[in-house]
Amino acid sequence: SQRCDRMVDVGRRKFMSGAGLAAAGVAVTSVVPGPQAKAAPAAARVDYPSNRLANVADLKVNEPLNVNYPDADAPGVLLKLGRKVPGGVGADSDVVGFSTTCPHKGFPLSYNAGDRTMNCPGHYSRFDCEAGGQQVWGQATQNLPQYVLHVDAKGDIYAEGLDELLYGRLSNVL
Ligand code: FES
Repeated sequence: SQRCDRMVDVGRRKFMSGAGLAAAGVAVTSVVPGPQAKAAPAAARVDYPSNRLANVADLKVNEPLNVNYPDADAPGVLLKLGRKVPGGVGADSDVVGFSTTCPHKGFPLSYNAGDRTMNCPGHYSRFDCEAGGQQVWGQATQNLPQYVLHVDAKGDIYAEGLDELLYGRLSNVL
């Protein structure tokens, strides 16, 4: 009697909760899709520092000058190539700058004045300094980051950006 009532009670509660779930299920499946939320635009713009790296008078044709950009932990070079090249600035459009950290696994690159390439001792990737740092051989999967340069009236050379992501970074500017 009393025990029996309790069992009925439990049964009713179970039924109710089952009905509740079913109702919830109906509610979920009957949701009408509204206008899609717009994804927030990615923070694609990086604010690069404008850093004076050297003066054109400091450069000799085909002799790399060691610099750092966009910060002290990012080694690179300036090169005066003696003929107009992609990304080249100055009176002869021949001054370029590159990171000297291999985009494959971060080994330091060295300049080969013979064919004007940056060369990696790690796995032998090669990058053409006369072709915007294009990879010409090896295991890297990215061209060499090239500086965006600007030369002012006094011949001072400023770096103001990079065209590829530096090795090991999630953002070129930390
Ligand atoms: Fe330069 Fe691998 S680190 S090719």
